[in-house]
Amino acid sequence: MSDYVWQHDLTGEADRLRLMSRLLDPSTRFHLSRIGVGAGWRCLEIGAGNGSVSQWLAQQVGPSGHVLATDLRPDLMQGIAGGNLEVRAFDVVHDEPPGAPFDLVAVRALLHHLPERRAVVTRMVRWLKPGGWLFVQEPDFYPTWTVEPPSQKILWEQFICWADAHQIDYYVGRKIPAWVQQEGLTEISSQGHAEVYNGGSDFAQWWDYGLSEVAARLKSEGGVSDAALDEFYALARDPDYWTTTIAFTATSARKPG
Ligand SMILES: C[S@@+](CC[C@H](N)C(=O)[O-])C[C@H]1O[C@@H](n2cnc3c(N)ncnc32)[C@H](O)[C@@H]1O
Repeated sequence: MSDYVWQHDLTGEADRLRLMSRLLDPSTRFHLSRIGVGAGWRCLEIGAGNGSVSQWLAQQVGPSGHVLATDLRPDLMQGIAGGNLEVRAFDVVHDEPPGAPFDLVAVRALLHHLPERRAVVTRMVRWLKPGGWLFVQEPDFYPTWTVEPPSQKILWEQFICWADAHQIDYYVGRKIPAWVQQEGLTEISSQGHAEVYNGGSDFAQWWDYGLSEVAARLKSEGGVSDAALDEFYALARDPDYWTTTIAFTATSARKPG
């Protein structure tokens, strides 16, 4: 996956993932708690980033359970392994996880990056025990359709177009329920959550990192103007500017027992 755009060694990427954990972990924990993750479960997290979700899972499953936290690049999880939490390098497109099948296979904010996303869903379902749960939390960019001012709406359109050219699907969140249904999973439940945030907030800072890291490419490959980017950075720091840009859709579904 050398094509993965937001590589960990980009300046600011570790901070961006830390912010992502702070912004998304509460909703991820809410949905995983609803599934009923608890003592003794064996869990696999894929594309775990800095491992914040796996660390929480390890607390929930306790000493009789086990969590395997995996990432193509596990460098940001250095030092978190121990006890019932194992960390491993793993490519979800090509590798087989040790210890399958699992009670829970979880992924957040990875499938949109993978051209093989549909086949990866098939693979993840295969790694579930009968009665096990799949959890997928992925973005859906429909809030960008209403962004103001118009110059910023255009910037987001260009961003999504640029991403599409790199086979990143920013509308994948809505597709997951149908895919898991096709895989024969049941008890499907899916909810989107879109934050309304202002300049200076963690969310604005997260986007500031996200766009800064790829700004040169957005300009050279995506036709984004310097003026639009400068306005974006200014608004991202303006506490009077409120907007909404991204929803995260959390889908859970169960393999029949
Ligand atoms: C946007 S980050 C999300 C990190 C974390 N899941 C979160 O939500 O905070 C995507 C992660 O997936 C990892 N990744 C990319 N391609 C992968 C692959 N083929 N298999 C496993 N992990 C991959 C990246 O290294 C990165 O850590």
